Amino acid sequence: MIAGNVQRVRVDLGDERSYDVAIGAGAIDELTAIDARTVVVLYDVAVEPLAQTIIAEFGSRVAFQRGLVGGEDVKTWGLAGDIFDWLADAHIDRDTVLIAVGGGTVTDLGGFVAATYLRGLRWCAVPTTLLAAVDAAVGGKTAINLGAGKNLVGVFHHPSFVAIDPAAFATLDPRDVAAGVGEALKTALVADPELFVYLERNMGRALAADPEVLAITVARCVAAKARVVAGDERERDDTGAGGRAILNFGHTVGHALEKTCGYGALRHGEAVVLGMRAALALSRERGLAPALADRIETLVNAIPTPHPEAAHDAVIAATASDKKRKAGKVRFILIRDIAQPYIVDDVNEASVRRALTALA
Ligand code: GLY
Repeated sequence: MIAGNVQRVRVDLGDERSYDVAIGAGAIDELTAIDARTVVVLYDVAVEPLAQTIIAEFGSRVAFQRGLVGGEDVKTWGLAGDIFDWLADAHIDRDTVLIAVGGGTVTDLGGFVAATYLRGLRWCAVPTTLLAAVDAAVGGKTAINLGAGKNLVGVFHHPSFVAIDPAAFATLDPRDVAAGVGEALKTALVADPELFVYLERNMGRALAADPEVLAITVARCVAAKARVVAGDERERDDTGAGGRAILNFGHTVGHALEKTCGYGALRHGEAVVLGMRAALALSRERGLAPALADRIETLVNAIPTPHPEAAHDAVIAATASDKKRKAGKVRFILIRDIAQPYIVDDVNEASVRRALTALA
């Protein structure tokens, strides 16, 4: 898995769409070596220097470039429509590869544009936030938002390559580091016991954005996510064992909090940390051993989050509109042990109310 200063993880989809995720200082060099006659670069202006390095490396192969102010506001029909027009004006054809450089909002939008323009362009992701590196930019989910909720319009369209240079995390706001560590801890809890132990030993260094700890954490998360996605690419596993849906641990309440507090008030990863507290309370109620639940809670609580003022009634109402519900029932991912997730759809309102007290 390690070649030179680059760790490489394969996302094996069982066909020619399988792709590599390269993690390390040399990852960007591998990106610019990809087979593409022309490229389009969409990037977050917050990482302008990195984007300009990539653009310079591609040189005359860059057919179009555009800087965007990353954040949920880029994931709109309006901006996607503008980009389609810009691509048409630039006479972009299907031999072009779209490169999305930025956090999860820019990679989600870039992937969505790539999935739909000319019925599908190849694309590559260069996630520059920890959250995008450990989760958003790997696995092929692309989306834009509607007023009614986040990610309601989207397509599964995997990138052809993902390049992660952990140097990008050095300039992140501490809240963004904590949000990414939260999403990494989620992956550990549902899919990687070794990562859980690693984070237990290294939480302080992870939150301080120690480059070595973050590189190891990202590589383990990507490998775990690659295994999960390979087993259930389109989140269709209905066996109750979970499939890809296990990656939504903490997300039922997390998404509801994001909606209730107003998109942007909480980082997605912060909402997931709060949601994991609720999911742990429910897991405890259904038999997660108290000593293990205490141990996990200690680690979850070590990740700083804001304290949202959301009214419990509003959060409960918002869980009912979660897009992951099935047959009208709200689903929760719970754990019976580390890396032993399961799905339930019979949690009653009284239990959810009790679980929400864990957010305080
Ligand atoms: N973020 C969860 C997934 O990609 O399935």
